[in-house]
Amino acid sequence: MITVHTIRELREHVRKARSAQRVIGFVPTMGNLHEGHISLIQRSLGDDCFTVASIFVNPLQFDDPDDLARYPRTLERDQQMLAEAGCNLLFAPDVDEMYPEGQDRQTTIHVPEVSEGLCGGSRPGHFDGVATVVNKLLNMVQPDKAFFGEKDFQQVAVIRKMVDDLCLPVAICPVPTARDIDGLALSSRNGYLTEEERQQATGLYRTLQEIANDFREHKDISRSLTDARERLDQRGFRTDYLEIRRTSDLAPASPEDDSVIILGAAYIGKARLIDNLLIDNLTVTLNASDD
Ligand code: PAF
Repeated sequence: MITVHTIRELREHVRKARSAQRVIGFVPTMGNLHEGHISLIQRSLGDDCFTVASIFVNPLQFDDPDDLARYPRTLERDQQMLAEAGCNLLFAPDVDEMYPEGQDRQTTIHVPEVSEGLCGGSRPGHFDGVATVVNKLLNMVQPDKAFFGEKDFQQVAVIRKMVDDLCLPVAICPVPTARDIDGLALSSRNGYLTEEERQQATGLYRTLQEIANDFREHKDISRSLTDARERLDQRGFRTDYLEIRRTSDLAPASPEDDSVIILGAAYIGKARLIDNLLIDNLTVTLNASDD
């Protein structure tokens, strides 16, 4: 695997791959990689793509300077993992390469509605930072396909809308959340957990599963969410949000929706974890046997 740090080198390598008739697949990351990221690389390689990964800890998407400062930078280990997975090219720019005029003078992108509320509500400006950097990265790499983990479901929705609204010529490919054996969604932030917190951390997914079971049975949003925050708090978390939304656009769910998603975010120790659980095929078609 080749590592490059400048846009010029990146474009040169991508141009060569394209002239060799390769389809370009792109996996943007902030590094500190885990098996979830590797599953994105594998998806891209499985689609026979010349696979480009990026590692850039994007300051524009951090609303808390301490969170940005302590975000783990593990480039050598990440390079090794990517090389072992078969990734073709790594783009690892520094902040000056990405924001040469300075972050404050950078044109930014705001994706309305879908970026508001949920994580957008708790982390002001976060999705403007994500949309801006992903747009820049897509313009730099110009991939045919870009792969994103569904753990960050709202992020995928924001990026999809940005790509649609701005007519960017790339297919956005969501990849199911990779989980540990006990159900915990893999996340770079799991590294912040102590051993005890790691044991408790499955409580978030368990709470989502309980909400899902209740919702499947009763289809009553407020009933399913009643007491869920308290249960999550009792499991050692400080709940940020637990919500049931319509899958297609993350608008508030209604009983008529046939696909909803339960989304949760909660703090445990120094980590803020997020997770979600999709419930499909809710509408029973009573007239299925009619002609
Ligand atoms: O999901 C992430 O790691 C980041 O938000 C992304 C998409 C790489 C943009 O910085």
